[in-house]
Amino acid sequence: MVTTDTRGRPLRDLRISLTDRCNFRCTYCMPRHLFGAEHLFLPKRELLDFDEITRLARIAAGLGVTKLRLTGGEPLLRRDLDVLIARLAAIDGIEDICLTTNGSLLTAERAHALREAGVNRVTLSLDAIDDDRFMAINDVGFPAHKVLKAIDNARAADLGPVKVNCVIQRGVNADQILPMAEAFRHTDVVLRFIEYMDVGTSNGWRMDDVVTAREIVDTLRTRHPITRLAANAPGETANRWRYDDGAGEIGIIASVSQPFCGGCTRARLSALGELYTCLFGVHGRDLRSPLRQGASDAELAALLSGIWHARDDRYSEIRGEQTAAGRQNPDNRVEMSYIGG
Ligand code: GTP
Ligand code: 5AD
Ligand code: SF4
Ligand code: SF4
Repeated sequence: MVTTDTRGRPLRDLRISLTDRCNFRCTYCMPRHLFGAEHLFLPKRELLDFDEITRLARIAAGLGVTKLRLTGGEPLLRRDLDVLIARLAAIDGIEDICLTTNGSLLTAERAHALREAGVNRVTLSLDAIDDDRFMAINDVGFPAHKVLKAIDNARAADLGPVKVNCVIQRGVNADQILPMAEAFRHTDVVLRFIEYMDVGTSNGWRMDDVVTAREIVDTLRTRHPITRLAANAPGETANRWRYDDGAGEIGIIASVSQPFCGGCTRARLSALGELYTCLFGVHGRDLRSPLRQGASDAELAALLSGIWHARDDRYSEIRGEQTAAGRQNPDNRVEMSYIGG
């Protein structure tokens, strides 16, 4: 079954946030002054449990979802994650189960358990290859070389193709573009540079902080000729490039300078069970209440497809207009750490 929105976009991907907690305090995502000791995270009983997540994922699969991405906060903070994954992997119609993680908890054993449970690829976040620089960004003193070890663990466990996400901010880590590229040339890891986005309100985003895809390409080309590749799949977030000398593939996620809303097939489920039809949503639709009040599968499916049918989000395409109208960073927009990116 294909469920389309008002712009004809099918529902294909469900991004599930498993927790609003993270053991990092990346300055652009969970700055310490806002996510300090006094910050109240969601109590465990408020989070969707594994039965509830599995049920919603099964209903979403019935509406056309084939791809699940597990995010957080940090998804590996969720205990017994492999148990959940095995249940998700058994759902009819689910072809792809991926994880976006900071890698800090991805030991060899954990990587193996995830693989056995059914994760077929992982994406790790790494914003600098220099230890000191990365420690300053994650603000918990976690060095880059330990993320490299996590990447090795993922590859040793055959945890599918590994991607690395690197969010570039002007004046923070733009000088890491070339060293990051060097670190992953001649490997099968696909490094993806990401334009810094105005998600949430905590990070005090300004357009001036964004290093555009154009600038990133120009920087890469000062060292290595690269050529654009065709997209792997419709609605893909990253523009794909290859090194002309055969040293591998690289991606650039240009959601600020080249929005990709036209092909956006992604719905997001918060750890509380709210459905967001856009990363830049202000309100999620509560699915947990009907779940806990005994709604049938058919009722939940009707609710979900109704929300998707009414969807007309395209925030990144209209960001320019919003910014010009002075509506930049409305103070109630959902946070990245809450919705999982
Ligand atoms: P692949 O399936 O491997 O292509 O993963 P992905 O790029 O969809 O997911 P990932 O979690 O690796 O996200 C990479 C970056 O793209 C992050 O900065 C996300 O916040 C951003 N991103 C993912 N989906 C969307 C989206 O629908 N809209 C926007 N604006 N950004 C997105
Ligand atoms: N802009 C772009 N990407 C971001 N991420 C977190 N915050 C932002 C932001 N403001 C990235 C994380 C992770 C992915 C899910 O989103 O680094 O790799
Ligand atoms: Fe950093 Fe990701 Fe944690 Fe945000 S959720 S603080 S980007 S590791
Ligand atoms: Fe999809 Fe919203 Fe991102 Fe556009 S801004 S690609 S509609 S999530």
